[in-house]
Amino acid sequence: MQLDADIRACQACSLCEKRKQAVPGTGNRNARWMLVGEGPGAEEDRLGEPFVGQAGKLLDNMLAALGLTREADVFIANAVKCRPPHNRTPEADELAACRPYLLRQIELVEPDLLIALGRPAALALLEREINIGAARGKPHSYRDIPVVVTYHPAYLLRNPQDKGKAWEDLCFARRLVPLK
Ligand code: URA
Repeated sequence: MQLDADIRACQACSLCEKRKQAVPGTGNRNARWMLVGEGPGAEEDRLGEPFVGQAGKLLDNMLAALGLTREADVFIANAVKCRPPHNRTPEADELAACRPYLLRQIELVEPDLLIALGRPAALALLEREINIGAARGKPHSYRDIPVVVTYHPAYLLRNPQDKGKAWEDLCFARRLVPLK
């Protein structure tokens, strides 16, 4: 697909210099839910697929608890498509350089719901800095598409006491746009 080829060839920011490969996205391109993460880590950079490391396992388990799979029910992309060195948070200019790809993915998938996993994803979708704790539990929007903001799975691995809140956020998403 042309968009994925464009992403793989991208040199719009310096993240392209250290990547093994860009990571466009995965899942069902006709999904009604689209999940947006932060950026590829080491495993994703090696394999070319988002959320294949420890955080991805947690994400898959959370989806499974809703009766969903990444292959059938959601499309998963990242706010930046290339791994930031040492897994640092993407800079605002890197998020901005990559945003046109995220927006083209949204145009193609036409989801009924967007889920921002963590602050950089929320910044890319909403174009403003938010605090996850304050922004969760309320519907935001990108154009006319509702955006649910929740914790990033890697944060949840470090802060398991907040897993219950992330579960509440997914239940909130399911109330907004039921899948099954
Ligand atoms: N964290 C992310 O934000 N995205 C991935 O693809 C993997 C880990």
